[in-house]
Amino acid sequence: MNLPTTRVDAPTAQAEHLLQAAGYSAALVRELTSGDRDRLLSHFLALDEDDRLLRFGQIVPDHVIENYVRMIDFARDTVFGVFDSQLQLVGVGHLAYAPAEGDKRTAEFGVSVLESARGQGIGSKLFERAAIRSRNTHVSTLYVHCLSRNTTMMHIARKAGMKIEYAHGEADAYLTLPPADQSSILAEMLQEQAAVFDYAMKRQARQASKLIESFMPPGIAA
Ligand SMILES: CC(C)(COP(=O)(O)OP(=O)(O)OC[C@H]1O[C@@H](n2cnc3c(N)ncnc32)[C@H](O)[C@@H]1OP(=O)(O)O)[C@@H](O)C(=O)NCCC(=O)NCCS
Repeated sequence: MNLPTTRVDAPTAQAEHLLQAAGYSAALVRELTSGDRDRLLSHFLALDEDDRLLRFGQIVPDHVIENYVRMIDFARDTVFGVFDSQLQLVGVGHLAYAPAEGDKRTAEFGVSVLESARGQGIGSKLFERAAIRSRNTHVSTLYVHCLSRNTTMMHIARKAGMKIEYAHGEADAYLTLPPADQSSILAEMLQEQAAVFDYAMKRQARQASKLIESFMPPGIAA
């Protein structure tokens, strides 16, 4: 018997659809905390060998990823994430601050998006958020290092106005940032609030879905 299926997270999906239709991106970028380490680990372990090579500069085995995630210092660096409606971390951006040299402050950005979520603007949104956070924390140069064959990342970097230098199959992209102003501070605050709200809605929808599922007879999807 084919019973109609109702998803409790349908309103969230509909809201995402409406926002997209109105020109808003569904990729809401939330700042992550140490409480997100398990989801971060699942995200990185889901990357295949080539993606690990592109993201980390070498094909890192699982135990190196486990160590990397365990060692992320959330008090020093900033990590951003984009969640799908199932609260899977589909995109992660890590903004790592270099030690300040006098007045000069630089930061390096690394990003990954799960293959299933690519081409929807998530990587670009994570980069934009990292750039705005950099401005707001007095970083004057934002830096991205990647393999020169990484044409997608190079495209995102060029689109953001980054200056790119190629050498020995690798590429260094630099973005000189203007100082923070009221609008950059307000923009970041609004983006974070929207992402926190979106995350809370998704979590509620997921909990309700699980609750309904627990009342369903076996074999019937909520
Ligand atoms: C690089 C990466 C983060 C991009 O994520 P994404 O969410 O797909 O990126 P977006 O959707 O925001 O943007 C992709 C852009 O690249 C373009 N693009 C896609 N494939 C491309 C290719 N092969 N060559 C050039 N541009 C390409 C898209 O058209 C899009 O451009 P647009 O915004 O002008 O339309 C993702 O591919 C990834 O995780 N790769 C593995 C890890 C990695 O390479 N990290 C970067 C090094 S730190």
